Amino acid sequence: MKAVVILLVLILKLFFCNSHPINDDDDKLVFLQAVWRHGDRSPIETYKSDPYQEDSWPQGWGQLSPKGMEQHVYLGRNRLKARYIDELKFLSPYYNSHEIYVRSTDVNRTIASAISNMFGMYGENARPGIDYPNCTGCWPIGFIPIAIHSVREDTDYVRKRS
Ligand SMILES: *[C@@H]1O[C@H](CO)[C@@H](O)[C@H](O)[C@H]1NC(C)=O
Ligand SMILES: *[C@@H]1O[C@H](CO)[C@@H](O)[C@H](O)[C@H]1NC(C)=O
Repeated sequence: MKAVVILLVLILKLFFCNSHPINDDDDKLVFLQAVWRHGDRSPIETYKSDPYQEDSWPQGWGQLSPKGMEQHVYLGRNRLKARYIDELKFLSPYYNSHEIYVRSTDVNRTIASAISNMFGMYGENARPGIDYPNCTGCWPIGFIPIAIHSVREDTDYVRKRS
């Protein structure tokens, strides 16, 4: 079994007084950690006589595929945004660097997954000229460059090995 690669996202909401009830007992959600894996990827290896070797894949072995990017856009938008922004109003509708911290393992496919996920989560509400450059043709609409933090693989003690 190869190492299990995880993405770790910590969502911080430090302003307790702003938190919102999540059920009838008036319990308040004050801090949330969400953890997920990367999306669909190319194979990480194959057998010798396979006609489809590494050069058959646009980015080579083990890289996030367009389908994987799409999966993360949907996860970010249809699950995380839908629940924590739209439904619970736990997070602001606009990206706020004081509210959310995103951490990934130091692996291409997990970092690319996190970028895709954040685009899904914050892309729809992103404000041109405020959250990203308002310049026609120079920037993808709704794309906010949100920091994805990581540490070197050999010192990443959060990552589970198996
Ligand atoms: C990440 O991509 C680069 C090429 O852009 C490659 O050299 C490297 O091996 C990849 N690393 C991982 C962990 O996928
Ligand atoms: C964006 O740029 C266009 C063209 O320069 C301008 O008309 C529009 O008001 C700008 N929008 C914002 C939100 O700054």
